[in-house]
Amino acid sequence: MDGSNSKDALSIEKRADGVFVIRMDVPGEAVNTLRASFAKDFAEVFGAIEHDPACKAIVFTSGKKSGFIAGADIAMLKDVKSAHEASELARTGQKAMDRIEAFRVPVVAAIHGAALGGGLEVALACHGRVASDDKKTKLGLPEVMLGVLPGAGGTQRLPRLVPIQTALDMLLTGKQIDAKKAKKLGLVDEVVPQPILIEVACKLALSLANEGRAGKERGAPSKKLEGLEAVQEAALTRTPLGRKFLFDQAQKQLLAKSRGNYPGPERILEVVEKGLADGFVAGLDAEARAFGELVVSPQASQLMNIFFAQNALKKDNGVSDASVKAREVTRVGMLGAGLMGGGIAYVTATIAGLPVRLKDKDPEGVARGLGHVRGLVEGRVKRKRLTRQEANEQLALVTGTTDDATMKGCEVVIEAVFEDLALKHKVLAATEAVGGPEVIFASNTSSIPITQIAEGSSHPETVIGMHYFSPVDKMPLLEIITTAKTAPWVTATCVELGKKQGKTVIVVNDGTGFYTSRILGPLMNEAAFVLSEGVKIEDIDQALVDWGFPVGPITLLDEVGIDVAAKVGPIMLAEFGDRMTAPPGFEKLLADKRYGRKNERGFYLYGKGKTSKDKKVDPSIYPLLGLEPKKHLPADEIAQRCALLMVNEAAHCFGEGILRSARDGDIGAIFGLGFPPFRGGPFRYVDTIGAKEIVRRLERFRDRLGVRFSPAPVLVEMAKTGQSFHGDKPIQPGGFPRKKKS
Ligand code: NAI
Repeated sequence: MDGSNSKDALSIEKRADGVFVIRMDVPGEAVNTLRASFAKDFAEVFGAIEHDPACKAIVFTSGKKSGFIAGADIAMLKDVKSAHEASELARTGQKAMDRIEAFRVPVVAAIHGAALGGGLEVALACHGRVASDDKKTKLGLPEVMLGVLPGAGGTQRLPRLVPIQTALDMLLTGKQIDAKKAKKLGLVDEVVPQPILIEVACKLALSLANEGRAGKERGAPSKKLEGLEAVQEAALTRTPLGRKFLFDQAQKQLLAKSRGNYPGPERILEVVEKGLADGFVAGLDAEARAFGELVVSPQASQLMNIFFAQNALKKDNGVSDASVKAREVTRVGMLGAGLMGGGIAYVTATIAGLPVRLKDKDPEGVARGLGHVRGLVEGRVKRKRLTRQEANEQLALVTGTTDDATMKGCEVVIEAVFEDLALKHKVLAATEAVGGPEVIFASNTSSIPITQIAEGSSHPETVIGMHYFSPVDKMPLLEIITTAKTAPWVTATCVELGKKQGKTVIVVNDGTGFYTSRILGPLMNEAAFVLSEGVKIEDIDQALVDWGFPVGPITLLDEVGIDVAAKVGPIMLAEFGDRMTAPPGFEKLLADKRYGRKNERGFYLYGKGKTSKDKKVDPSIYPLLGLEPKKHLPADEIAQRCALLMVNEAAHCFGEGILRSARDGDIGAIFGLGFPPFRGGPFRYVDTIGAKEIVRRLERFRDRLGVRFSPAPVLVEMAKTGQSFHGDKPIQPGGFPRKKKS
């Protein structure tokens, strides 16, 4: 934040044609980020050439190969103490952008690589933008994902440059778009190959100078809308009625998704509307004020915590000794070409770029798996994310087989065959026979302890769990499970492979249900208890969605499969005892062949034309369970009962040392199970509410509803000592080992 290393961040090349090329290259950093001092640096550089008659135009670009400007330095925001301080930071940024925009000669941004957040705001303030057609070139305003909004004029300039709907979409989702799309939207003027980027930008800058475009009217769009589009745009943005319609609609859609849990997007709508109604300057003022308030909001604080945790995980090799290196993986073996195997093969080939041998027990299975991969790749071609040639190259990386011998040469073999210990042992033995003592055998089992699988190995140090989530191509988390015998290099190698597959990876110690399945169990179980008391299914799902989960627990039960949950339940009960007891009567579901969405018989009605949005509860479920859905419970009580049991189980995992850190537990719950991000994860949630209060709530429920609410020992201890899971002196994991049942 002191900006000491940004002093020499900007350099000027004075070209003979009168274009001055300003390059940003923050010394000592891999990527350019904007710090508090950048406004001063900009002022100095622009001040130095203000009166230079040789300067006819400016091209602003990055001196880094890695990209343009990746955004503002988030650590700087995290350090901010008050809303006022944050607002001032925004105003400083706004002034720097104003200075570029009002400069005597035109300024053109030459963009190669990421132009995100503050980086895009710099580009927006320029008079023209040229982007390289490189895959790395991405433009976006991702601030909303950190719970804030673009604070250097982005909320005002973007809607003046591109159609309002596009601007709102980019601002509210934080999505990143490539150069081609940016050109189509009018966000950039030209897209060219990277080697000629600067030349083309200089040409554009000179031609703008010739047109006298410098100091142009603020916010003039670079692409003129025509015909109906232009009329629509004017109606929506320039008339009070149009604006009311537009923003009411946007607000409605937003609340349907955010349930009012995220102030960031709401404030974005507010400041964009303000700017359209009352003008640019009023818009900037609203932007700075909203930015200030959001930066110090609890939601932004949690979202930034997640951002930092993810960054820390990117650097974590998954073992306590940071010097342990991952071994090189040149080829991956995939056993089982079903739902999971196909998905894992897909991310290995297309994201990690590694060759995969995909094995199934018969040619039909292989064909199904290859078809799965092909379907996903072709989908990307259709959506124009891949060229035909790229698709062919990716597809060529996945080859099918029914022969174990072809697994030779694979450093890592992942198995996703049926969930059956004997079968897992059989494929493990076959893998070791072919692969030798150093082949890593990674199981994607969802419920069998890895230690039991490793018992079938002649070198258990190479056996590990790699627990992916379905659908593998979309779910961001990978939970890696180690046994007491897993060698550190094996863990480090699998962590590295997971990262290459695009996953956020946490490493946990082996135990029934590992971490994620284990903490999901009690939440789902409690939802079943609430239902068994006669509360409506919709009310239960709604309560948890309002609390911030992406779907309700009963919907999830249908998705996961009632049969799968019924299998896991008794295993959890045998291992953890009373607190996993399920409410009586649910066996009737299986007897009625209700397995969930997979056979279109579950708690909800499925079938033709039913999308997940308009699905309805199957009314026959209540008589089947012998219930009358008449009871009303406050939504908050339903949510608390379910969520607190997840949080409590997470605390058990922490106390027993299943988790390596509270950070991993937060990330695992958010990315694997959809725990509300704005609450920061189960452990951040405890820290926010306070362990004492969490214990008090659990005990109140325990006295009313039973022992399943008994607080985890680590929480009881923390309630006494006042310690927290995060912070300067956090409590350490593993202090409360589970007493084995005799
Ligand atoms: P699936 O039934 O879709 O696929 C299993 C595949 O294994 C089938 O294609 C089958 O022909 C093949 N197979 C059976 N014996 C084989 C052998 N000896 N050699 C090679 N292939 C063989 O099952 P799914 O859903 O893909 O699950 C696979 C594993 O992943 C299971 O252990 C499951 O518990 C686990 N898992 C499943 C998740 C899910 O959501 N479906 C999530 C996480 C883990």
